[in-house]
Amino acid sequence: MPEFRIAPSILSADFARLGEEVRAVEAAGADLIHFDVMDNHYVPNLTIGPMICEAIRPHVRIPIDVHLMVSPVDRIIVDFAKAGANIVTFHPEASDHVDRSLALIREHGCQAGLVLNPATALHHLDHVMDRLDMILLMSVNPGFGGQKFIPSTLAKLRQVRERIDRHVAAGGQPIALEVDGGIKVDNIAEVAAAGADTFVAGSAVFGAPDPGGGYHGVIGRLRAALAGR
Ligand code: DX5
Ligand code: ZN
Repeated sequence: MPEFRIAPSILSADFARLGEEVRAVEAAGADLIHFDVMDNHYVPNLTIGPMICEAIRPHVRIPIDVHLMVSPVDRIIVDFAKAGANIVTFHPEASDHVDRSLALIREHGCQAGLVLNPATALHHLDHVMDRLDMILLMSVNPGFGGQKFIPSTLAKLRQVRERIDRHVAAGGQPIALEVDGGIKVDNIAEVAAAGADTFVAGSAVFGAPDPGGGYHGVIGRLRAALAGR
């Protein structure tokens, strides 16, 4: 696993050309495809489901990182596993039985993670650290791309980084620390310094202008910012 991973969110892609879009970001150096699932119930927006995951799966080799913003979660977990998802994360508020949902994800061969909203407390992690392959901190309120990074996420990232390091030092499995919302070339270095290792970028990647080298250009600038940290 590279030290830092860039996960373009296809929420900002051109949905009419989705196969081409995911191939293009993979060719441009993306590490993961971030796949935002919204149900117009848990969040006030409606996006894409397992059929689209299955449709893009043959177009890329990199893992598909499914971020579930749906309630309930359990039934759809199984559908995404069958549709070729590699990582499945969900919000603890959206599941009545968080431990069961996490176990279900791994039972179906995927990596499992919890997503914490900006105001969601870290105690949700307390009794499930051994069930997690990823912790995703939202740095915007979920529902839309193109929002502004919420600065209090930095302090929260530092706290989660400490928890993960303590867990690993005590013999626990590695856990990726992902951040989602408002990540750009000009803030990714400080987000990394706070402890994140996996960076979702939607509008920053898919909104990258051609004169700036398009997807390849912006992913290069994100990596350069990380390297220059
Ligand atoms: C928001 C989604 C994000 C979104 C990020 O609810 O979870 O993944 O696409 O978009 P940007 O990078 O534009 O903030
Ligand atoms: Zn997301």
